[in-house]
Amino acid sequence: MSQPTIESILHEGRVFNPPAAFSQQAYIKSLEEYQQLFDRAKANPTKFWEDLATKELHWFEKWHTVLDWQPPFAKWFDGGKINISYNCLDRHLTTWRKNKAALIWEGEPGDSRTLTYAQLHREVCQFANVLKHLGVQKGDVVGIYMPMIPEAAIAMLACARIGAAHTVVFGGFSAEALRDRLIDGKATAVITADGGWRKDAIVPLKDQVDKALADGVVPTVKNVLVVERTKQGVHMESGRDHWWHELQKQASADCPAEPMNSEDLLFVLYTSGSTGKPKGVVHTTGGYNLYTHMTTKWVFDIQDTDVYWCTADVGWITGHSYIVYGPLSNGATTLMYEGAPRASNPGCFWDVIEKYGVTVFYTAPTAIRAFIKMGEEHPNARDLSSLRLLGTVGEPINPEAWMWYHRVIGGERCPIVDTWWQTETGGHMITSLPGAVPTKPGSATFPFPGILADVVDLDGNSVGTNEGGYLVVRHPWPGMMRTVFGDDDRFRRTYWEHIAPVDGQYLYFAGDGARRDEDGYFWIMGRVDDVINVSGHRLGTMEIESALVSHPAVAEAAVVGKPDELKGEEIVAFVTLEGTAAPNDDLVKALKQHVVGEIGALARPAEIRFSDALPKTRSGKIMRRLLRNLASGQEVSGDTSTLEDRSVLDKLREGS
Ligand code: PRX
Repeated sequence: MSQPTIESILHEGRVFNPPAAFSQQAYIKSLEEYQQLFDRAKANPTKFWEDLATKELHWFEKWHTVLDWQPPFAKWFDGGKINISYNCLDRHLTTWRKNKAALIWEGEPGDSRTLTYAQLHREVCQFANVLKHLGVQKGDVVGIYMPMIPEAAIAMLACARIGAAHTVVFGGFSAEALRDRLIDGKATAVITADGGWRKDAIVPLKDQVDKALADGVVPTVKNVLVVERTKQGVHMESGRDHWWHELQKQASADCPAEPMNSEDLLFVLYTSGSTGKPKGVVHTTGGYNLYTHMTTKWVFDIQDTDVYWCTADVGWITGHSYIVYGPLSNGATTLMYEGAPRASNPGCFWDVIEKYGVTVFYTAPTAIRAFIKMGEEHPNARDLSSLRLLGTVGEPINPEAWMWYHRVIGGERCPIVDTWWQTETGGHMITSLPGAVPTKPGSATFPFPGILADVVDLDGNSVGTNEGGYLVVRHPWPGMMRTVFGDDDRFRRTYWEHIAPVDGQYLYFAGDGARRDEDGYFWIMGRVDDVINVSGHRLGTMEIESALVSHPAVAEAAVVGKPDELKGEEIVAFVTLEGTAAPNDDLVKALKQHVVGEIGALARPAEIRFSDALPKTRSGKIMRRLLRNLASGQEVSGDTSTLEDRSVLDKLREGS
């Protein structure tokens, strides 16, 4: 198994039509219907989104302008007043959904909880009051560093309810990484837990928060709220730290949702790019609410009878958009699972599906590949007949993994939606609609209605059929990021100037390569920048390099991705050492641990290779392309004439 290559994709001739029974009950029932929607949206995007915003969401006050586009800055539904927590909760309480399960939660050790819409609303209102009493105000940023427990969703919705923005930091990030994000976001409070369960062990989240806040380096943080989850005993700083359950039980359940401007900040989510520190991707309220609502509705074909499960962590955009906001805005039942697939319990995902009768299941190719390796006897031993739709996200899915998913998990009856999107896009961009679009294993198929995606060359011209190029979007959409937190200039440079604007036409450049086949299907070819995708997690090579060079033994470091069967890519670091340091196994271990401490376990290099020098151009730029070749054991290909010192390459080759 490997990442898709041009050859494997070109030879992929299998086409799977949506099952007739699925199409009959789906929102979008045929390719013609999809095409009509797409054409209507393309002809008049603002009217398309305006009609949906009117029909699908509750607004306290209507907008005065649907789209205000001052490239590259967009405002959607400006002047409109809305609250996403109201749309996710309150509006369902006046319907029969009041007592429907909103959130089903399964803990890793086997404990579980179900919250109806009425119960979830009550918890959110109480916690919103807790935040208010601690002085958290509209416009504040609140850090959330939590395990996968209901309180994570409650915290997000409570922030949104009072108009505070959240910045969720994945629980696998280190104290250092958390600190950087709290400082950049100027967070005034942090919500965490004593610990969380991860692969049969406790992740000491509160200890990490204490480290992140040590020595007063994040002076903006005044309060820390702690959920009691693992009960292993933690330090509580007097005056700063508070137990969630103690404050929650005293709080009133009366907390009307704050009418927010459509363009008010909803959240900041940090993500890696090819340069500098991770950037804070800014999402605002109204457009994001509409976009996640519509994509959830049409891509997952969400019905009231569905039990929908997305296996992502709420620390990533997938968790934001497709565990919390999109499903709840639709009044769906969303399932949250604390555990991860692990050797000690290779059937855990299938047990959850059987136990709750999951109907729609959304996971990542890396997880599918891990399950293939664990053996199909595990899913085969469970009743998965409740499933009706499968989805994937996070990286290109190789056709073999797609076929296994289709056959073993989907019983050959479930359509698969392969959804291409990004933290920046807010929601699905290129994906099939399951009742309408025939699928080809490994292709994300077509753009969502209203998304004008294209594959272009550096001048912004569309490339020909089956020619590779840069994946771009030609028109703003409601779920798009608005800016980089505190850095408009970086936003412009990173996403809008790679393909130079021609005649005032700005193209959003996603950082991915793609091609379209003769049927117009999009095939995503992976990142074309210095971003690597390890198990669906996005990491900037420069971030890992900075972590390495902050170790006293390291003079210089260059990091590249190497294809890996399970993870998609693995991290390989080429390192040159300071004068006296000795290149031995202990140092390899120490450097790997150092990166874990600086960023988190997800960034641990698989390999560290020592070298006297790195291959550079005459202007001093490290030639990563050559290092990528070396890391994956390939012949060094392409032009090497710009290399300053050819002997470096020979030495590296000998050493590999
Ligand atoms: O390279 C693409 C890959 O993941 C990147 C976005 O990463 P992130 O912002 O962390 O969001 C992940 C979840 C949306 C993209 O630039 N990617 C995501 N989905 C797919 C994908 N590559 C191919 N096919 C996909 N379905």
